[in-house]
Amino acid sequence: MSLHTGSDIPHHLAVIMDGNGRWAKARHLPRAEGHRQGVQALHRLVERAAERGVKVLTVFAFSSENWRRPAAEVNMLMRLFAVALRDWRTRLIDAGVSLRIVGELEPFPEDVKTAIAQTERATAAGTRMRLNVAANYGGRWDMCRAASALAAEGLPITPEAIAQKLATAPDGDVDLLIRTGGEQRISNFLLWQAAYAEIYFSDCLWPDFSAAHLDEALAWYEGRERRFGMTSEQVRGTAG
Ligand code: FPP
Repeated sequence: MSLHTGSDIPHHLAVIMDGNGRWAKARHLPRAEGHRQGVQALHRLVERAAERGVKVLTVFAFSSENWRRPAAEVNMLMRLFAVALRDWRTRLIDAGVSLRIVGELEPFPEDVKTAIAQTERATAAGTRMRLNVAANYGGRWDMCRAASALAAEGLPITPEAIAQKLATAPDGDVDLLIRTGGEQRISNFLLWQAAYAEIYFSDCLWPDFSAAHLDEALAWYEGRERRFGMTSEQVRGTAG
């Protein structure tokens, strides 16, 4: 765990991209248009986060609970993922970003799984930033899966061992978690990984989220003092 009293760029940034539906409704547009604009906002986020020096960006694209949405919206989101992932390949490669999908992919349509595998392979050499797209992901699922893997191997279930079995294992804890759309919840996102994250809530609806909004969140993060359970004096090195 890295200790710092602020002034850093978060190593691992996580984002809950909320508000696509409300953005569309406010404009009398179909929800699908909100999601399409949401993809554009995600492009902006990826490019600015990489420019700013973020090393890992994990975004919540589809939660385990999102299957409960009307079938037409779920199908639309699947189509959008497949098309967006294909169209995105060159941009990600040019930006030095490697893509990984984290979540239970088995229930996804074949063409989406193919687009995922091809984009992961095509971008694997990118070293500037890793982009984790959480799809059919839930924090509880992630923890249960990690604990089950340890149990199956007959290994002791310790915090360190669980951390090594999580879907985002190589990327470590989340430093800054941003949620747009005005809600103030974690919604079963990176429950374990965000244990010590600074959490930034924005009223901005996701399709409106700009590079400047990210900079505002990064400036707020810089001013935070991260204590990881210690006193302020300990963190500042002034404890007598
Ligand atoms: C939440 O808004 C957003 C989602 C459930 C989908 C997010 C997906 C994207 C932005 C596209 C990602 C694309 C790729 C290729 C990874 P909401 O529909 O819950 O909005 P509401 O709360 O206003 O109804």
